[in-house]
Amino acid sequence: MTTQSNENKPQAKYRKDYQAPSHLIQKTELYFNLNEEQTRVIATSTVTQNGESNTLSLVGEQLNLVKLLVNDVEHSDFEKKEGVLDIFSLPKEFTLTIETEIDPVSNTALEGLYKSEGAYCTQCEAEGFRRITYFLDRPDVLAIYTTTIEADKKAYPYLLSNGNKIDAGDLDNGRHWVKWNDPHPKPSYLFALVAGDFDVDRDVFVTRSGRKVDLEIFVDKGNLDRTPHAMLSLKNSMKWDEERFDLEYDLDIYMIVAVDFFNMGAMENKGLNVFNSKFVLANNNTATDADYLDIERVIGHEYFHNWTGNRVTCRDWFQLSLKEGLTVFRDQEFSSDLGSRAVNRISNVRTMRGPQFAEDASPMSHPIRPEKVIEMNNFYTLTVYEKGSEVIRMMHTLLGEARFQKGIKLYFERHDGTAATCDDFVAAMQDASGVDLSQFSLWYSQSGTPQLSVTSRFDEQSKSFTLTVSQTTPSTQDQQTKRPLHIPFDVELYSSTGEIIPMVINGQVVDNVLSVTEESQSFVFENIDAAPIPSLLREFSAPVKLEYDYSDSQLVTLLNHATNAFAKWDAGQMLLAKYIKLGVEAYAKQAEFALSQDVLDAFRGILLNPDLDPAFISEVLTIPSHNEVSGWFETVNVDAIASVLKSMKVQLASELEDEFSAMYHSLVQHNYDISHSSIGKRALRNLSLSYLAYLPKYGETVKAHYDNANNMTDKTAALYCANSASLTVREGLMEQFSSEWSHDGLVMDKWFMLQGSNPSSTALQGIKHAMTHSAFSLKNPNRTRSLMSSFFNANPVNFHAIDGSGYQFAGEIIAQMNTINPQVASRLIDPLLKFKRFDATRQDLMKRELEKLRGMDGLAADLFEKVTSALA
Ligand code: TRP
Ligand code: ZN
Repeated sequence: MTTQSNENKPQAKYRKDYQAPSHLIQKTELYFNLNEEQTRVIATSTVTQNGESNTLSLVGEQLNLVKLLVNDVEHSDFEKKEGVLDIFSLPKEFTLTIETEIDPVSNTALEGLYKSEGAYCTQCEAEGFRRITYFLDRPDVLAIYTTTIEADKKAYPYLLSNGNKIDAGDLDNGRHWVKWNDPHPKPSYLFALVAGDFDVDRDVFVTRSGRKVDLEIFVDKGNLDRTPHAMLSLKNSMKWDEERFDLEYDLDIYMIVAVDFFNMGAMENKGLNVFNSKFVLANNNTATDADYLDIERVIGHEYFHNWTGNRVTCRDWFQLSLKEGLTVFRDQEFSSDLGSRAVNRISNVRTMRGPQFAEDASPMSHPIRPEKVIEMNNFYTLTVYEKGSEVIRMMHTLLGEARFQKGIKLYFERHDGTAATCDDFVAAMQDASGVDLSQFSLWYSQSGTPQLSVTSRFDEQSKSFTLTVSQTTPSTQDQQTKRPLHIPFDVELYSSTGEIIPMVINGQVVDNVLSVTEESQSFVFENIDAAPIPSLLREFSAPVKLEYDYSDSQLVTLLNHATNAFAKWDAGQMLLAKYIKLGVEAYAKQAEFALSQDVLDAFRGILLNPDLDPAFISEVLTIPSHNEVSGWFETVNVDAIASVLKSMKVQLASELEDEFSAMYHSLVQHNYDISHSSIGKRALRNLSLSYLAYLPKYGETVKAHYDNANNMTDKTAALYCANSASLTVREGLMEQFSSEWSHDGLVMDKWFMLQGSNPSSTALQGIKHAMTHSAFSLKNPNRTRSLMSSFFNANPVNFHAIDGSGYQFAGEIIAQMNTINPQVASRLIDPLLKFKRFDATRQDLMKRELEKLRGMDGLAADLFEKVTSALA
């Protein structure tokens, strides 16, 4: 973060302006002297000139420069400006010693070196290392780090950094020191330091080639009963990466530290991951099934970064998706290989169609490889991560697993140990496979969500079926004109009775994945006896919106007969979407709306189908979210959507009451375990209860569900039911939960989330009251996100209240967070940026809050970038 006066506006950087660094750093030796009152950092680097200039410009923020030596001699030929240290008249090769003083204790931005409760820790990605020392803080400068940490031995018995511990010693004043060496050259953003007192869970993993790796998970004292799942997930990740990607771990030790104060999920620092404690700690009493799966996914994600991110890193931050898109793809495949592929795909697609599509349509729209950045922290987005992963997945679809893995192998042969670009990755994929990816690479530079409009024509005479596919990408704020993309379009044809019809084009049976490359293109299928039902965009084979005029009965046929689980689910979603759209239109005319009997029966059939996985059934019966539905309309009618979604739930509940009730009773499990089959049964049972909760007589069932629960999944499911259906038992249950768990912030997050998403009209009052809860603090990002993000993003009716009370509250919280933690503030503001999607009254109210923020003194670059682009 850089705070700016209004005359001194934060400057944008452009991808096209990339220049190689003026100097390279071979080795950096760091010495940290940790003290509550003052922390000293001495950085000694071996530097060589890498171009024409003998001036070295280092970046640094919030640093107090104490001393500067060149080749061990005091050097005074330098100039210090805002955020930059220019050092002049340097020889071609030299050692540079810089001593700085920093203040981790007052660092609430949680970037650089800071304190999380009693422990020191660091977060350097993206540009946090410059808050530790003046440096070439850019990812294409790779150095070998040796780090010595000195601190009080009693308060900080563990002193950790990257790589291997090479030396340690005691000092006579109750202090001690430890020295670490990381043999792998790395950019500064992968540096990490931790100092504190922990409990340690230790284990060992033997790699395929026989290397013994010590595994260590550091947690707050007393939490050892919450580490086994993280440890198991780590070992599963290491094994999976060997088997699926042929990649082995490369150090003798792998450490994970769990901290309570953390801006994101976790960080892949070489050999020393730092994790948000919510992605490590779990036992049956504190964690839900979803928490267990999240832990597995995030542990996997950070571990997979060791190759895709650390061994090959990014040349510049515009290339972020090189590591993040690819690593998300890898963690999605990991979760799919270990669990249900269909359920994972469905949940990833919901994220794309809801929040990612919304980001594409917002003033902050950007390609997966952005062209222009003011604050890099603003680009750790759904677009770079999730759409980035979809782009990798499309290459996987076009190449197939074998050729994709050949591409990965070539990528590492070419780029191991270096900082690469997205183009390098695509080139490796193309060269290894022989598949032409030249048009495909446009996915890296074009922003926005493409729209596929498909029409069909059956010709009795020629027995042919023609699919005509048109693509357009609506212009976005960052990019007016769009070009046709290479879209892998996965299709299957069904007869009206649900049999698969072979796809023959020009006399040849063709693959299911068609390549759409033109603005408009027709595919003519031969030997077709009667008009088929096309199953389109199977597996969500490209991150696009699809339009095809299905009849109800066609969708019911696909829902019943599609062999591909994702396509089956999607048919159900399209069916619901048709009715939701009708309902929202009917709302204005105050007309009634209802699902037809055929549709209800189709969903009843799914619910009762004994051949389907319960986890899958519960996905089919989960209707689209308010956020996803909002994306279907030019102007969002908040109340109409909320009302239609609620009536749909009430109608499903009353029509399928007997079936839901039977499910609820038959799916009881007496013991808790987290096998995928148990998780699936609990999901369907709790989903059934969530429908029943909309029928008044089930209030007591919900309360009994809470009282009888022997695990956190069922407890929070009961609370969720009581909360979303505004049951009278809600108050009592919420109180019971809070008195039981007020000492545990992570568990209380579930409670804060429910307060934030409370649909009742008293929600805002409840939220303000929750802020006074002993477990709440705006300084803790988990707490703030639980309470505030859930209000801003998952409480549409109250956040968008027509009196502006929700927006005004948001404006106040964001302003406070701008000072405390600009990164968190910047994530909170996203819903306000989307004001253009609402009616004039709401637009004005939202804009007023953005304008207030824009006029604020000390506005951080994070918010500056978003507010100015929204108001532009
Ligand atoms: N590289 C991290 C990940 O995706 C992201 C991350 C963790 C991060 N902490 C951060 C990004 C702080 C920006 C700021 O796994
Ligand atoms: Zn990542």
